[in-house]
Amino acid sequence: MATAKKVSVLVLWFAIVCNYVGAAPRPRVRPVAGPDIYRGKNVAKDSLLPGEKVVNVMSLGAKPDGKFDCTEAFMGAWREACHSNVQARLLIPRGTFLVSTMFFAGPCQTPGPVTIQVIGTVLATGDISDYVNGEWLMFRDIAGIKLIGGGIFDGNGKAAWQFSQNCEADPTNQCVRSPSSIYFSNVTNGIIQNIKSVNPKGFHFFITNSANIRLRLLRLTAPDTSPNTDGLHVSHSINVKISKSTIETGDDCISMIQGVTNVAIKRVRCGPGHGISIGSLGKYPDEIEVRDVRVMRTTLIGTDNGLRIKTWPDKYQGAASKITFSNITMENVKNPIIIDQEYECQPNCQKKPSLVKLSDIIFRNIKGTTISPVAVDLRCSKQFPCQNVRLENIDLQLGATPTGSRCTNIKPIYVGLQKPPPCA
Ligand SMILES: *[C@@H]1O[C@H](CO)[C@@H](O)[C@H](O)[C@H]1NC(C)=O
Ligand SMILES: *[C@@H]1O[C@H](CO)[C@@H](O)[C@H](O)[C@H]1NC(C)=O
Repeated sequence: MATAKKVSVLVLWFAIVCNYVGAAPRPRVRPVAGPDIYRGKNVAKDSLLPGEKVVNVMSLGAKPDGKFDCTEAFMGAWREACHSNVQARLLIPRGTFLVSTMFFAGPCQTPGPVTIQVIGTVLATGDISDYVNGEWLMFRDIAGIKLIGGGIFDGNGKAAWQFSQNCEADPTNQCVRSPSSIYFSNVTNGIIQNIKSVNPKGFHFFITNSANIRLRLLRLTAPDTSPNTDGLHVSHSINVKISKSTIETGDDCISMIQGVTNVAIKRVRCGPGHGISIGSLGKYPDEIEVRDVRVMRTTLIGTDNGLRIKTWPDKYQGAASKITFSNITMENVKNPIIIDQEYECQPNCQKKPSLVKLSDIIFRNIKGTTISPVAVDLRCSKQFPCQNVRLENIDLQLGATPTGSRCTNIKPIYVGLQKPPPCA
């Protein structure tokens, strides 16, 4: 444990000296989306364009033995692909390539999106003190990128999990997060498709300040006991589509915080994990609202929460509106439907109410089984009661025992079947 302390002190020292706590140093704004270059195109198809330049990491000295440090080779290959005047792709062939933290920085000169085709495995170095920049593979300032190929990003997280701090529940905002495996910041028109991520040190994917991002056919895995390994964490981003993916992890399958607009989540299978979350909100000053989130045809299996919106009491303003969860199947889920505006302050929260306004929220066609006696738990702010929350065709069962509902500072609109029975 002596090493544990030394490392976290070292990380904290860098964080303070470099004024660099995780991904915080850049101004956080909602990006302008611009045109979606993939709209109406068959994004599932990948073909080498005529004249496309292929930059194989092996030609820059990478060795596929899982031991040789390939960071320099990857950086060289990225520069070649990104600064190519013709269409280009970076190829990571069969084998295991050990890579430390690195930036894939733009802007790029290629006429179209740069492709990164991963066939083999990209393995992160184990030493957490390498990661003072915050994340593992950081994609930044890129207009047009495809990350494809069926390969694996292995975050080699096991050794790092013991140093993991729960930043989500840290009210001081001083926390140093563990590095995410794939980080997008100021990326527009990005596709991540047919990619596996295993054992990240922190989040599998972290998308921020980005627009027009598609995530499809992903398979994210980490043990259910791994701390803070969110599948996909999104903030300050617009137009994000997540579909046909399987997420088995230790924390939220998908978490969305401030500044997120127009997110569609479709056909995701989540569990183990902590479910699909909006929030926590109201944690930072001047938060930008969350708007237009749609979760559809999604299955949650054995998760700690199902569909959750969480906000801090006695903190900052914020808002979430136009949130729809529809056609969701639950299997043995704890807290299947939960609005928690007393986050990290229960039971009997005595703090001042949350200043986050929640409105226009729909739970529609939610069915399956739960293991908690309060299947629909809606606790809103006394100062800003939840507005226009609709429960439509809810069919949740706790074995033979009926389940219950709880409502505070909310008058839900009930439509159709209600199991558990509505609040009185
Ligand atoms: C975002 O990335 C683009 C390139 O895609 C770049 O031109 C722009 O300056 C970046 N914006 C910021 C705020 O860094
Ligand atoms: C939900 O399921 C119903 C009935 O199968 C279907 O009519 C509706 O289009 C679905 N909605 C979504 C958003 O998937």
